[in-house]
Amino acid sequence: MAHLWQGVINEYRDRLPVTDSTPVVTMGEGGTPLIKAHALSELTGNHVWVKFEGMNPTGSFKDRGMTMAITRAKEEGAKAVVCASTGNTSASAAAYAKQAGMRCAVLVPEGKISMGKMAQAVAHGADIIQIDGNFDNCLEVARKLSDSYPVFLVNSVNPYRIQGQKTAAFEVVDALGDAPDYHILPVGNAGNITGYWKGYTEYASTFTNDAGTDLPAVATKTPVMWGFQAEGAAPLVAGHPIDQPETIATAIRIGNPASWDTAIAARDESDGLIESVTDEEIIEAQRFLSSRDGVFVEPGSAAGVAGLLKKFRAGAAPSEATIVITVTGHGLKDPQWAIKGAEAEDPTAAEPRRVDFDVVSVAAALGLE
Ligand code: F0G
Repeated sequence: MAHLWQGVINEYRDRLPVTDSTPVVTMGEGGTPLIKAHALSELTGNHVWVKFEGMNPTGSFKDRGMTMAITRAKEEGAKAVVCASTGNTSASAAAYAKQAGMRCAVLVPEGKISMGKMAQAVAHGADIIQIDGNFDNCLEVARKLSDSYPVFLVNSVNPYRIQGQKTAAFEVVDALGDAPDYHILPVGNAGNITGYWKGYTEYASTFTNDAGTDLPAVATKTPVMWGFQAEGAAPLVAGHPIDQPETIATAIRIGNPASWDTAIAARDESDGLIESVTDEEIIEAQRFLSSRDGVFVEPGSAAGVAGLLKKFRAGAAPSEATIVITVTGHGLKDPQWAIKGAEAEDPTAAEPRRVDFDVVSVAAALGLE
């Protein structure tokens, strides 16, 4: 029987703040693959799955929250939305705003968003403003703008974003039959770890929805949450904001996460941890995942994998556990680091050999006999 995935709002509408008259703006987001990472599983002695959020319509997990935020904006009659972004939120906001027939303004840190993400905002016709500052400065301006002008803020400080993002936890439980033992993910502005923890906790006990209906628990437990920040942008590890965050993983180049308190709550309530990984560890993890398990993610998205590898090497990883790692965005968003990662192993990796167009020469070049 024909079945079209309806997007996260319609798939999970009884657990989201919508009514029958809500004008749902969707691009079919969610329903992303949960991929068994065989090499990572074998290396670490666990059952490791990656939730490949790069398969969302704009190539990152942001679409889950954006469908809710733009739907809400439409419900309120908004004509324009604004966000600050390191690139993925702006790509998502720009696309969903167009789907809803709205104007979209994006504030981005000058020179610090990848070409692929900038191309998306350009392609969707967003009003792009570069700010001479970092993401935290952009968010401050975006908040003030939405306080004083007729624009609707769609950053994850908007609670509707978190509502949409929690659906990723639902999908993991629905796919595995229960919550995993561990859930690992990158942490930047900390909306995603907040969303996952909300989703896992709501699924693990009776949930009373907005209509007053009690929905039974779907999971028997919640996972231990492990979050990883980039070492040069690790305020939650330091315990204080970082004025000048630096990392090659521009997606998570954030010094003062908006969802600070809820990230710490997710860590503590789940008996988990939030630690950091170096840029080198991030590139190595990105490389491992693409060259061994076939999953190509952007650098920031590899922070969770880097974290697992780091804990494993330190003898501090579990064994025989079911582990889900969210890989948050597609590798095509920011391909330059993948090429650098490959070249670190083999300096000629990105310079394919030139061979005459005959089969014998090609076979010889491939070492085939
Ligand atoms: N991974 C990617 C690919 C991201 O783009 C982000 C955040 C994160 C992880 C961290 O998620 O902020 O919920 O803790 N990107 C935001 C943006 C800040 O503007 O696109 P978080």
